[in-house]
Amino acid sequence: NTADTKTFLAMKHGGYYSNAAAGAEDVILGAFDLIQRSLDITLVEHDAKSFRCADFGCADGGTSLKMWARVFSSIAEKRPSIDLELFYDDLPNSDFNQLFRSVHGLTNFKSYLQEFPSVLTFASANSFHTQVLPEASLDFGFSALASHYLTKPPCNISNHIHMVGAEGDERANFQEQGKLDWERFLGSRALELKRNGTLCVVNPGIDKDGHHLGNVGGVHLWNIFNDIWKKFVNDGVITETEYRSTNFPQHYRTVAECIEPVTDPKNAVFRSGLRLEHVETRIVRCPKARAFTEHRDVDRFVNEYVPSLRSWIEPTMLKGISLNRPSNERNSIIDKLFEQFTEHVKIKPDGHGFDYCDVYMICRRAYLPKAAARLNA
Ligand SMILES: C[S@@+](CC[C@H](N)C(=O)[O-])C[C@H]1O[C@@H](n2cnc3c(N)ncnc32)[C@H](O)[C@@H]1O
Repeated sequence: NTADTKTFLAMKHGGYYSNAAAGAEDVILGAFDLIQRSLDITLVEHDAKSFRCADFGCADGGTSLKMWARVFSSIAEKRPSIDLELFYDDLPNSDFNQLFRSVHGLTNFKSYLQEFPSVLTFASANSFHTQVLPEASLDFGFSALASHYLTKPPCNISNHIHMVGAEGDERANFQEQGKLDWERFLGSRALELKRNGTLCVVNPGIDKDGHHLGNVGGVHLWNIFNDIWKKFVNDGVITETEYRSTNFPQHYRTVAECIEPVTDPKNAVFRSGLRLEHVETRIVRCPKARAFTEHRDVDRFVNEYVPSLRSWIEPTMLKGISLNRPSNERNSIIDKLFEQFTEHVKIKPDGHGFDYCDVYMICRRAYLPKAAARLNA
């Protein structure tokens, strides 16, 4: 089951994602020092009448509203009468209705439009592995917790559901697809950025200690989900084929993999003028697990923590289940998966948490080459 990611991927709809993913908002706000640094670089020489921003892989938009408010405040301080533009980008199945409800203040989230009513907002469902914006039109691009998604899984994984558990050729296939897609992502941004425009990316990756999302010193989330899914085969809940068809279209990159396209002079991305300004890794602890160390209420912890995982794990697990089953049966298998996971957490909650381990990068478009390659072609 190596269907294109765009055919199925969406964070859980109806505001579920942003309401559950409080940790994502922490990651985004925690990156503001680097966002500010990116804006400072771009604003030095900026004298156009408008400033164009973009959020690649925005989901339903709720987790980034506060960050964009701070961005607009920072730009408006330096350039009070400039037109501010924000382009949102995600895949076609994403909940764009919820995105615009959030942006226009029709949800429980406070929108930056209340403070900056003249911000112009737009949306695109082009994959961020292709060109989304016109050439040399973007001042500041941002992407959080999204660019580890691949255009498609390159193969099934025989013994696991995620590339972190893949071995041999299967692991190598994910690495190769990860390289290709990362070059497509960066190459597309290189084309879109103006000269001196900047890109700030927060990308789930692997740090020097081997940590990655789902394995940051506590339990190994991916192994737990994989064990439950395997047990479902033994218990006859899913078939062996369904197990093998379940594979996350993701690749966690090392720092070396992340920076190669913008540091290797032979790389097409480097040759298109995109340069590395900064790179580092950071771990951001799960806010729900942090709170649990204080309140020690297991039921409260599972009610807050499990949905933060379900908001994005569910769609890929569901994709693995055969479409020949009626949809209520497919959904009840997913319910069962999260019930079993919840039981697991209740028995031994300590060590659980949705901790993030990300590679943070700032890139700048240093120059515009005469003929930039068009990637959508
Ligand atoms: C975990 S969510 C992150 C959402 C938000 N940026 C945040 O940090 O809370 C990842 C998002 O990336 C989107 N995504 C994955 N592949 C994509 C692609 N090729 N083009 C655009 N968006 C993509 C997914 O649909 C999803 O909404």
